[in-house]
Amino acid sequence: MRVVLLGPPGAGKGTQAAAVKERYGIPHVSTGDMLREHVRGGTDLGRRAREYMDGGKLVPDELIIAMMEDRLSQGDCKDGFLLDGFPRTVPQAEALDQLLHKMGIGIDAVVLLDVSDDVVVERLSGRRVCRSCGAIYHVSFHPSSKGNICEACGGDLYQREDDREEVIRRRLKVYHEQTSPLESYYEAKGLLRRVSGEGATDAVLRVLQGH
Ligand code: AP5
Repeated sequence: MRVVLLGPPGAGKGTQAAAVKERYGIPHVSTGDMLREHVRGGTDLGRRAREYMDGGKLVPDELIIAMMEDRLSQGDCKDGFLLDGFPRTVPQAEALDQLLHKMGIGIDAVVLLDVSDDVVVERLSGRRVCRSCGAIYHVSFHPSSKGNICEACGGDLYQREDDREEVIRRRLKVYHEQTSPLESYYEAKGLLRRVSGEGATDAVLRVLQGH
């Protein structure tokens, strides 16, 4: 199964992707996680991406497209993948179409998680992430029973640099201007499925089961 998860920052893409990955055994390919890994590793890409990410802006298309061409050609993506955070602009979507066409494959579904801006701000300002395994928590909605320690692996929980309110507002603006045009892009191809992101955290899984 090849799926694209669309939705504003904080819609729950990473949270729901974990359930889909477990059910279908397909890799969860998150451009945000990949970029943060580059930043941590101090690579050339990480150094170039960091200022955009910390400021809530999009990393330039050419850097993202090159990174994803490399990632999608790896063996674990042969039988399917779940894309989270990519594509994020129309040029990225067109580049993905061309790449998949060359590989002789296509996308099965694009699932849009709908969440209001107010909910996004509430969620992201309370989000905590495990530094070791990437597990996602929320100080009110899904707290760790061990305080600032991850229940799954014992790692430290931290707050992302771009989860400060002024940066969250900028990320939302960028989403509405540059990413939401992808809704009509994929609607025109008959691939778009809309799901409320304000309910249960397995809503995406339930849509895909009916696919
Ligand atoms: P990225 O890491 O992709 O961030 P994002 O899209 O802004 O999404 P988030 O990870 O913030 O949110 P999410 O939807 O995964 O929500 P989560 O499940 O964590 O990108 C970061 C940056 O990298 C970008 O700003 C950009 O600079 C760059 N970048 C990445 N991809 C790029 C690209 N393709 N092109 C250019 N630049 C790119 O949930 C959020 C919180 O809500 C959690 O605390 C969770 O516990 C809680 N929660 C989730 N679901 C529910 C629920 N149903 N009910 C209650 N609480 C919930």
